[in-house]
Amino acid sequence: MTTEKIETARPLVRLDEVGKNYGNIIALREVSLEVSPGEVTCVLGDNGAGKSTLIKIVAGLHRHDTGTYQVEGEAVSFASPREALDRGIATVYQDLAVVPLMPVWRNFFLGSEKRKTFGLMDIEFMRRTTKSELLAMGIDLRDVDQPIGTLSGGERQCVAIARAVYFGAKVLVLDEPTAALGVKQAGVVLRYIVQARERGLGVIFITHNPHHAYPVGDRFLLLKRGRSIGYHSKGDITLDELTALMAGGSELEELAHELQGVTAGKELTEEAKKLGLTD
Ligand SMILES: Nc1ncnc2c1ncn2[C@@H]1O[C@H](COP(=O)(O)OP(=O)(O)OP(=O)(O)O)[C@@H](O)[C@H]1O
Ligand SMILES: [Mg+2]
Repeated sequence: MTTEKIETARPLVRLDEVGKNYGNIIALREVSLEVSPGEVTCVLGDNGAGKSTLIKIVAGLHRHDTGTYQVEGEAVSFASPREALDRGIATVYQDLAVVPLMPVWRNFFLGSEKRKTFGLMDIEFMRRTTKSELLAMGIDLRDVDQPIGTLSGGERQCVAIARAVYFGAKVLVLDEPTAALGVKQAGVVLRYIVQARERGLGVIFITHNPHHAYPVGDRFLLLKRGRSIGYHSKGDITLDELTALMAGGSELEELAHELQGVTAGKELTEEAKKLGLTD
């Protein structure tokens, strides 16, 4: 009973004070985050903040230099993305590795084709499964035989998400899946992030748009120049606060003060002029 409680309380992914250097460039320093089943953890930050470095560590592309990385309570240091995948951590990159001219179902099963006894591809099974898996994620494709290149960017992201779910991912890592999308398409992808969460997956969602992160996120990690400048659960931060943090809150405030100073200075000069103290 107690063991079971511990099991469920154990996050799928947990980073503690993780750091990474590229030569003498410190890309990441003492960054912590976690994601549990049925949760979305968002990683926000400007260009060069360290977002990609962070997810490359989670995805098994890079190894961390300091701190600890745990998967379901066990310390790991993956040598390859394959090792991460074997532990259920699937990463969907922005430039999806799809074959545009191949049908949707071929792309869905790419590299994991279902075969019959004599090695022939079980096309019917793959067509049917692709269709039903996409439907389960709320995507109703008329024809899974159409080339994947004819789908919109948002739909392609969704196929990649559905694929990861089907092949047993426990954790989905999404690197800026909405960055290149319009409002409507971004909405489509956000809906599938919620679908994945509702199916019990943990999602790590990288974005630099707080308006995309806030509605779907349970936790928010803000990175700046490789450091964490905030780690909040939804209950203790509002969208406005998140946006202000992203905009570099304090820097903007300083700027506002400076500008006020300029205006105040001007007003004083005007007053002084009126009083005949200056010319
Ligand atoms: N392979 C590398 N070799 C050397 N420096 C690197 C390497 N990859 C990243 N960096 C540096 O590490 C820092 C963090 O980069 P990273 O790509 O993680 O940022 P990011 O938050 O993903 O930015 P963006 O929003 O532009 O994608 C940057 O200063 C970057 O120049
Ligand atoms: Mg990046």
